[in-house]
Amino acid sequence: MATRTLAVISQKGGTGKTTVAFNIAAGLSLRGVTQLVDADPQGSLSQWSAVGFEKPASSRVIQIGDDVALCIEGLAGVCDYVVVDCPPDVRNSRVRTLLHLAQLVLMPVLPSALDVWSSVDMLSVLDEVREINRDLRGYVLLNQLEPRNAMSRVMRDALRELRMPVLGAGIYRRAAFRTAAVEGVNVYQMGRRGEAAVRDVEAVIEEIL
Ligand SMILES: Nc1ncnc2c1ncn2[C@@H]1O[C@H](COP(=O)(O)OP(=O)(O)OP(=O)(O)O)[C@@H](O)[C@H]1O
Ligand SMILES: [Mg+2]
Repeated sequence: MATRTLAVISQKGGTGKTTVAFNIAAGLSLRGVTQLVDADPQGSLSQWSAVGFEKPASSRVIQIGDDVALCIEGLAGVCDYVVVDCPPDVRNSRVRTLLHLAQLVLMPVLPSALDVWSSVDMLSVLDEVREINRDLRGYVLLNQLEPRNAMSRVMRDALRELRMPVLGAGIYRRAAFRTAAVEGVNVYQMGRRGEAAVRDVEAVIEEIL
């Protein structure tokens, strides 16, 4: 199977990039050889994986700087999946380089009006990149959804109206995602406490693969 590189990007900070990258990588590692890459100088992903006592292969992280192309090309052919956590700036040169090499992009967006506008900006960047990387697929992923919150429903409708490619699957606001981060584990390692969160992550993976 050809290596599939998945970039997790957003224009805004705190939308859940690191949470999504870490847990999606855990789910993908059940399907094939998966490498997590931290392209964010904040290094949250690297710190997260350094906390956990158990260190499954899925949580080992490679940190990259400006050597993005070298790193991604080096992993191609070695891994089935490469998942990259990015800094909150889609016009950052590292993110640009990565988008030219990736096959898939996930854009976590929170259920707020401001996030709708920031995702419009992200799509314009994707359109520019697609002039060169024609097969790049990008999806908005609603994160921190609340089942009884009307805003979550309104968001999905608003994004679709703007012709944004929104995944049908979304990630709910769940304590398990926060607890996992504190414990340095992924939600698959949390047993029953993580079951609902794992269902969210699995639904996303099934939809993007
Ligand atoms: N679905 C969720 N349910 C509950 N908490 C969440 C969820 N997603 C993210 N969080 C929490 O929200 C906070 C921000 O998430 P995260 O660090 O993944 O965002 P980020 O986009 O990587 O931020 P930055 O832009 O600073 O890198 C964290 O405390 C995280 O635990
Ligand atoms: Mg982060």
